[in-house]
Amino acid sequence: MSTTTISTSTSQHSASTLRKKVTTLNFRQKKGRGELITMLTAYDYPTAMAIDRAGIDSILVGDSLAMVVLGYENTLPVTMDEMLHHARAVARGAKSALLVGDMPFMSYQVSADEALRNAGRFLQQGGMDAVKLEGGRERADAIRAIVGAGIPVMGHLGLTPQSVHQLGGFRAQGKTASEAKHLLEDAKILEDAGAFSLVLESVPARLAETISKQISIPTIGIGAGAGCDGQVLVTHDLLGLFDRFTPKFVKQYANFHEAMNKAFTEYIDDVETKRFPAAEHTVEMTDDEWNDFLRITNDGLCNS
Ligand code: KIV
Repeated sequence: MSTTTISTSTSQHSASTLRKKVTTLNFRQKKGRGELITMLTAYDYPTAMAIDRAGIDSILVGDSLAMVVLGYENTLPVTMDEMLHHARAVARGAKSALLVGDMPFMSYQVSADEALRNAGRFLQQGGMDAVKLEGGRERADAIRAIVGAGIPVMGHLGLTPQSVHQLGGFRAQGKTASEAKHLLEDAKILEDAGAFSLVLESVPARLAETISKQISIPTIGIGAGAGCDGQVLVTHDLLGLFDRFTPKFVKQYANFHEAMNKAFTEYIDDVETKRFPAAEHTVEMTDDEWNDFLRITNDGLCNS
């Protein structure tokens, strides 16, 4: 596989394949060539390593961490320190994918200065290559400040989970003509502010396709149809690891929750019925050493 291009087909990727680091420039080039960009979320070292080795273009350390790993009802409670903790683990596992740190609720909304300071922490302390933040025109100043410091920013429009209370729930966005116009305008504003890419979440497919055609930066869709320049999914949804609910737009490629449950049940049964540990899981010592041990401990007992 050439090391000058980013991901191609899965069959070309193996554990030993050393890919060149994916950059924001590669994102643009892919859009220019009409090649689709692949992105998944990760929150830990082994998952990041497995995704990276599969040949993904980009890994998002999403604030979905709050729900799928930390068990919160929504994404609002997760903090900068928690995000950085998981970002560092992902950065240790993934060496080639473009790493994007998701700015958590209240880390960028108060002021552009605070947004810049927290974005900087993702690169300096979290090992990320870029940051993502939610919102449209109201985020333009923050994006300009962050990009101005040389930090690439991915925008996020449509269903923006940090605004779940304002949106009235996890609901699709842009379904009326005026909402759709507002979203298209926002996409252009974020492009002008310097975002290198945009996530479009839960918006009608034809609107996402139109936005993708009308801006020069790549769009990454989640629940936004096939007309985007790339796709992202929450890895725990794809693996069937988050069983609280599965959004309609998810394709589940495995059922890890069931597989884990089966493995844990078998382990408990094996221990209870003494099938585990077996001889092959057990450390032994030579008969000579054992007999010496018996001799010296018996002597010890006799002497005491
Ligand atoms: O936090 C996240 O996982 C995300 C994706 C849904 C894009 O923002």
